[in-house]
Amino acid sequence: MKARSKRNPVQPANDAFLNFTASIHFDARLWKYDIAGSIAHVHGLAAAGVVTANEQKLMIGGLKAIAEEIKEGKVAFDPKLEDIHMNIESLLRSKIGGAGAKLHTGRSRNDQVALDMRLYVREALSDVVTDAVGLQEVLLKKAKGSTTVILPGLTHMQHAQPIILSHHLLAHFWRLQRDIARIVDCYHRTNISPLGSGALAGTSFKIDRNLVADRLGMDGITENSMDAVSDRDFVAEAAFTLALLQIHLSSLSEELVLWSSKEFGYIELPKQLASGSSMMPQKLNPDIPELVRGKSGRAVGDLVAILTLLKSLPLAYNRDLQEDKESLFDVIDTAGASLHALKTFLAEVEFDEVRMRKSAEAGLTTATDLADLLTTRGVPFRDAHAIVKGLAIEADGDDQRFLALANDLISKKLKRGESPETDYLSIDKAVERRNIDGGTSRSAVMKQIGQAESALQATKESLFEMEKDVSVIDAL
Ligand code: ARG
Repeated sequence: MKARSKRNPVQPANDAFLNFTASIHFDARLWKYDIAGSIAHVHGLAAAGVVTANEQKLMIGGLKAIAEEIKEGKVAFDPKLEDIHMNIESLLRSKIGGAGAKLHTGRSRNDQVALDMRLYVREALSDVVTDAVGLQEVLLKKAKGSTTVILPGLTHMQHAQPIILSHHLLAHFWRLQRDIARIVDCYHRTNISPLGSGALAGTSFKIDRNLVADRLGMDGITENSMDAVSDRDFVAEAAFTLALLQIHLSSLSEELVLWSSKEFGYIELPKQLASGSSMMPQKLNPDIPELVRGKSGRAVGDLVAILTLLKSLPLAYNRDLQEDKESLFDVIDTAGASLHALKTFLAEVEFDEVRMRKSAEAGLTTATDLADLLTTRGVPFRDAHAIVKGLAIEADGDDQRFLALANDLISKKLKRGESPETDYLSIDKAVERRNIDGGTSRSAVMKQIGQAESALQATKESLFEMEKDVSVIDAL
């Protein structure tokens, strides 16, 4: 039974060897995909005349029964059988006897594990997209409700220019949208069947690979058997798309942490989603965004582990590849849990509009508008910049003083017959002036909200397609 006991097939491997080499304690989660792959493979074997119709029925019935038993928690996997593949094959043999011994015809664990991983990754990516859409929907809902809220936009963490809160929230929406696009792209490269590649060179049995792939809801078959069993670029790519997503979540989380501080005071922490301190009775802490931020470290670590694993591997399969799983599973679990927690948290967050507005009015955030105005009156922008900088230095951080100096200057630049506009440098006007596609004016943001809705709709259509493929596994 044990594939490694080549030298002496009757002598079981020693425990230390097995402890080191077995993967069942982490690859057990592949059981569903392993069984689905085996069912599809049996259909391929039957179509090729390698197993009879009766054997086909027995084998598929047996595999389905095993799936039920695992689902019901009735199966204890045997670590002596190394991995999920050997465990399920062994369970089948105990269940149906002779016909079970034909399951591995024309197949190696090398193409088998590559298939299982592809099926697992595809489903995980589809699930992450669902969770990412959930967070996007919360961002969009909050954005729709905050088109009249103005806060200071920052660069270098310094007050820069006023923006509307919707615009800020939608910036996070679009980051997620690109993450989703990358994930969907990765999904399609992943959803390709390696089955039929055998150990490395293909198989002598005339299995219709496309038929098998089709049964699994896969888009096609790999072109080269050596490549198919040896690369895990789909694993690395999935890990990258998720690590970058996690980085985006971390950036959003960082803002939520900052905004919940006394210094910012932009948001109120949802009490039921924050913890207190064991010592300081007055405290409430933003645990969820802090943990999402903290978990980005492990996501990046997982990606680096996978890339490093693949470095310098010669063709074709190498046992090193077994090490792809824990990192991949971790980055997937981390992304899913983080999206979920952040969505729940953000949905409950309340923004302090008064505080944001007050903050936006401080720090000379409309100084650029004054320079722009001078520019429209014929002053070259670089000179206008220098003039306004002079006023800013003179105001010495006093907003009222700056506005007074600015209004003086504006009235000097009035054209004949033009009446002075006292609120020219108000944050509301500054926001409205940025009426350009992708800008922060209310109408530009309304357009953006429409674009975000279309993007969500398009994602839901891709999700529908992905879920259709993925559901094939449970239906087998
Ligand atoms: N547990 C192995 C893995 O995860 C399965 C493939 C083993 N193949 C082999 N030739 N030993 O990669």
